Amino acid sequence: MGIRITPSILNSDFSRLAEEVGRIPSADGVHVDVMDNHFVPNLTLGLPVVESLRACTDKLLDIHLMITDPDRWAPAYAEAGAESVTFHVEAAAAPVRLARELRSRGARASMALKPATPIEPYADLLGELDMVLLMTVEPGFGGQKFLDLVLPKIERTRALVDRLGGDVWVQVDGGISEATIGRCIDAGADTFVAGSAVFGADDPDAVVRALRERGA
Ligand code: DX5
Ligand code: ZN
Repeated sequence: MGIRITPSILNSDFSRLAEEVGRIPSADGVHVDVMDNHFVPNLTLGLPVVESLRACTDKLLDIHLMITDPDRWAPAYAEAGAESVTFHVEAAAAPVRLARELRSRGARASMALKPATPIEPYADLLGELDMVLLMTVEPGFGGQKFLDLVLPKIERTRALVDRLGGDVWVQVDGGISEATIGRCIDAGADTFVAGSAVFGADDPDAVVRALRERGA
């Protein structure tokens, strides 16, 4: 199985998002970082921008909600046509109910964990999910250094997912580049967010293709 590359637009030019998304034709999707300045100390964009993005791209929209009260807001992103909606388990009041609501609205349901949040307490939730996002930096900003300390959790998550036998994607997000993706592939991740490595390059799509080759 090949790997999936879902570049983050966090470090792209927000004044011309449609053009920026058009610069990564080889990508499997577009990762959109929603931040509310409460769950993380940064503020980005929200539902109206996602609705506008939906209108200008057919690519899979992979929404990463770094917000408090995802129980209230996440379903609206599914309603807006996002194929995948990720909520942080640290913020969700009722993650099972939320995952079911997302799926009932036709979206893939995904749960994110900050670097210090263990997967084991949530192992029984995996059957309710289509993806687990393991943060490999503290959420909030692009351009941070990859945290090697998350690698054992990637391995443990892969083992839990394989034991379940379903098709739960294991996504990593933060500090992913050609220098770090190999370690994550070896640990068992299959879906990769890269922000600054892609949109900081002169040719973003070349970086997407180079990242994908690492998984071939
Ligand atoms: C960080 C975001 C990431 C970020 C990744 O909180 O969730 O998606 O954009 O950016 P890089 O690849 O630069 O670490
Ligand atoms: Zn993200």
